[in-house]
Amino acid sequence: MIHTTTSIALFALASLTAFAALADNKKTGQQIYIESCKECHASGEKNAPVLGDKEAWRPRLREGLSELTKDVIRGKGAMPPYAGNPKLTRREIQLAIVYMANESGAKWKDPK
Ligand code: HEC
Repeated sequence: MIHTTTSIALFALASLTAFAALADNKKTGQQIYIESCKECHASGEKNAPVLGDKEAWRPRLREGLSELTKDVIRGKGAMPPYAGNPKLTRREIQLAIVYMANESGAKWKDPK
C-alpha cells in the first residue's frame, strides 16, 4: 500500500516536472517581451524603439523578421547580443519580435 502511494506520488511529480518543462517552451511572445525586452522597449531606454510607436517601428519593420532577428542576435547599438539574455533561443527572440511588431503596426504571424 505504502509502495503504491509512493509510486503514484513519484509519477505525479515526474508528470509535473515534464509539464513545467513543456510550459517553459511554450512562452508567448508577450511573456518573453515582458521578461527580456520590456526593460528597454517600454521606456525607450538608450534610444530603443518604444513598443507601440508606429513611427519608430515602420522603417525597422521593413527589414522583415529574419533581418531583425539577426540584429537582436548580433546586438545593435545599445542592445547587447541576444538582448543581453543568452539563454533565449532564436525562436523565443522571434516570438518576442513578432509580438513587438504587431503591437507597433504590423500583422505578422508567429514563426513556425
Ligand atoms: C538593454 C536594452 C535593450 C533590451 C533589453 C532589448 N533591446 Fe531591442 N533595442 C534596444 C536598442 C537601444 C535598440 C535600437 C538599436 C539601434 O537602432 O541602434 C533596439 C532595437 C531593437 C530592434 C530593431 C532592430 C533594428 O534593426 O532596427 C528589435 C527588433 C529589437 N530591439 C528587439 C528586441 C527584443 C526581441 C528584445 C528582447 C528579447 C529586446 N529588443 C531587448 C535596446 C534593448
